[in-house]
Amino acid sequence: MEKVVNLCKRRGFIFPSAELYGGFRSTYDYGPLGVLLLRNVKDAWWRSMVQLRDDVVGLDAAILSSPRIWEASGHLANFTDPLVDCRQCHERWRADKIDGVCPSCGSTDLTEPRAFNLMFKTHAGPVEDEATVCYLRPETAQGMFVNFLQVLQTTRKKPPFGIAQVGKSFRNEITPQNFVFRTREFEQMELEFFVPPAEADQWFAYWTAERLRWYRELGIPEDRLRLRQHEPEELAHYAKATADVEFLFPWGWDELEGIANRTDYDLKAHSAASGEKLEVFDPQTQERYVPWVIEPAAGATRTMMAFLLAAYQEDEVGGERRTVLRLHPRLAPYQVAVLPLSKHERLVPLAREVLGLLQPVAMCDFDVTQSIGRRYRRQDEVGTPLCVTVDFESLEDRAVTIRDRDTTEQVRVAIDQLVPEVCRRLFA
Ligand code: GAP
Repeated sequence: MEKVVNLCKRRGFIFPSAELYGGFRSTYDYGPLGVLLLRNVKDAWWRSMVQLRDDVVGLDAAILSSPRIWEASGHLANFTDPLVDCRQCHERWRADKIDGVCPSCGSTDLTEPRAFNLMFKTHAGPVEDEATVCYLRPETAQGMFVNFLQVLQTTRKKPPFGIAQVGKSFRNEITPQNFVFRTREFEQMELEFFVPPAEADQWFAYWTAERLRWYRELGIPEDRLRLRQHEPEELAHYAKATADVEFLFPWGWDELEGIANRTDYDLKAHSAASGEKLEVFDPQTQERYVPWVIEPAAGATRTMMAFLLAAYQEDEVGGERRTVLRLHPRLAPYQVAVLPLSKHERLVPLAREVLGLLQPVAMCDFDVTQSIGRRYRRQDEVGTPLCVTVDFESLEDRAVTIRDRDTTEQVRVAIDQLVPEVCRRLFA
């Protein structure tokens, strides 16, 4: 864990936020490589959940919204964690995480747990009174429910169909912890999949299998991934059943994603609160009904961390130790690094020509400093799957060397064959 956190800071994946001012607890900034990796995680999710399907459409709803949404959804009343105070050191903790002992001073002199609402409250406009109170969304999901009718009318979709959204959510977590695993500002990737009630169990099983497949396909090893069914007492206020996809983090198994059967809870709640009927018409039975919802809800920032932890390895190449991130090519911040053998004035223009050929198909780095061996190591450490080296022979034969991150094998390829060869290796 510490090695990955250090690598993230040293190589520009994730920086503690506001370090210039001594930091700001639990907030992080995504640096030049982190922003690429996080974007790739979200793109891979969108590709699988929206682009490769014909039964899911996208949405990007507002983060600030009417408190009526949160009243109807039950979040104002129920979205709480049990908070306790330590009477000795005055630290505050989530009661369900500390087993009656203050982790800070070891005291068992704790207050009784009280419900603490996790939603961030703010005011819209210049007047700060009850009438202007609004909230930052604690989940993206409600955007899909309150736009359900508009999406239905504009897309002519019918159940089973889904609405997908990726975006920021905010929770005033009592104890943010474990790097970007639990933060107060984070990103979610959520699908609300609307189904006829009789098909809910079957779609729950389908999405559970489908989501496990996604993580495996992108490189999470089988032995670090598992599914855990929620016990009845841990179910969220809206869920009939939930299965968590869990990852083996350095501190043990913990949640990556929850797949919930939300029943018709949300659509019915918003119907009751708004007076609008959030229903669909079944042409077979000639009846209107409220669909049930199966929700695979993942965290983008948490998932990015799991991909980093799973990819991190130290091995030996040619008798030399190296750090390598074995990230899937779809996730790697840079997919190709173009490296002229030296800064020689004849090599750099050809290397730039090669870079120009590759940039439209892959995210590329271009690095001319230090020895070629050092540059390979630098690319291995940030997970770049392919390095393309331009050497003096390239000036004669218009061919370059492709070096593979995982095998370190090198092959010579003609420049006019480079783009199809790189695409084959990265995306086949
Ligand atoms: N709409 C359902 C929902 O929000 P959740 O289990 O509370 O369900 C879904 O959140 C996912 O969002 C979690 O599995 C986790 O990956 C991510 N997540 C939740 N709280 C988080 C936090 N404080 N920091 C980082 N990620 C978080």
